[in-house]
Amino acid sequence: MIDSTSHEAASSPSGDPYLLTPGPLTTSLTVKQAMLHDYGSRDANFIELNARILDRLVAIVKGEGRYVAVPLQGSGTFVVEAMIGNFVPADGKLLILINGAYGQRIAKICDYYKRSYQIQESPEDVPVDTALLDATLEADAAISHVVVVHCETTSGILNPLQQVSQVVARHNRSLLIDSMSAFGALPVDSTEIEFDAVVASSNKCLEGAPGMGFCVARESAMEKTEGNSPSLVLDLYDQWRAMQKNRQWRFTPPTHVLLAFDQALSEYEEEGGVSGRGGRYRANCDVLVSGMREMGFTTLLPDELQAPIIVTFHMPTNPEFDFNAFYDGLKDQGYVIYPGKLTVADSFRMGCIGRLDQQHMRDALVAVRNMLDQFGIESVNSIS
Ligand SMILES: Cc1ncc(COP(=O)(O)O)c(C=O)c1O
Repeated sequence: MIDSTSHEAASSPSGDPYLLTPGPLTTSLTVKQAMLHDYGSRDANFIELNARILDRLVAIVKGEGRYVAVPLQGSGTFVVEAMIGNFVPADGKLLILINGAYGQRIAKICDYYKRSYQIQESPEDVPVDTALLDATLEADAAISHVVVVHCETTSGILNPLQQVSQVVARHNRSLLIDSMSAFGALPVDSTEIEFDAVVASSNKCLEGAPGMGFCVARESAMEKTEGNSPSLVLDLYDQWRAMQKNRQWRFTPPTHVLLAFDQALSEYEEEGGVSGRGGRYRANCDVLVSGMREMGFTTLLPDELQAPIIVTFHMPTNPEFDFNAFYDGLKDQGYVIYPGKLTVADSFRMGCIGRLDQQHMRDALVAVRNMLDQFGIESVNSIS
């Protein structure tokens, strides 16, 4: 039973509401404090810090000696776009595995870049179909690359990365991964998964500040991308080569974001890397889902498809339930949630990533219970 006792607004150590969203996310005080310095982009300290960050990103995929990491200014979409523009050459063809908005966005990028592509789409609550992928690759020799979204944040669904990689490798094609919302919490292990490039950003499961993305790529694949990028600022090959030469960014680096990221990576390693971070998020997710179910909410996804990143709940059908009031009331109590982004169902989302633990999730559940009490709802009616 959720006991609704406290009506006081919760706040993080920096006095902010907790972000139960897909990002930007709650960061630790120490990550924020790391930004209280001004570093020159050519300082030895800063150059050392860059090298340390890039080495640690390669280590997360267990790619030492075979993979390289290239950073890029901007939000996650910048580096997704960079990956497509760099790795898929003008005469290549990309198969996009879509089951949500982030897969759709990749198709849009291809339209902008006039890259040839084909879509394999499934509904937002259905994982990528690997048997169909197998048949599509068998039938079309022109497909040179396949891109998959690891955790499709639109719904929170976990796509079968390992099986996708096995099929793509069997057909000798190149696999690109958007692991934006999963990297660091769910494994992308290059000793177990064949892939040419994965992209993610500083702020999601690695819990840094937002403002930079990165691509971790097989060195031999990165070498072949020279001249492919239709964009100067998003040219990962050029950025990589420039950093190899003088270990500096080509254009003004987000120095404060990098300071925060270095601290975030230390905290990540202290927590035990993928298993520690992923374990905390899994525990957060379990507390959240079981507490919400206790109040009558239903999840879009069955537990076996749910990534421990963000959970989509069906919108209650009780006439007394008012989502805008629910959202504002939770915010007033110190928890920011997220509207739904689905086409298959009316929904809202609650994230379990960022600097949050099981107690935060339990406290957020109390805030939800308080809102239901205010609406006079004993138990939520929800579509199952
Ligand atoms: C899977 C995935 N890809 C791409 C993005 C885009 O990242 P951004 O909003 O930082 O541009 C997101 C953002 O949540 C995401 O979850």
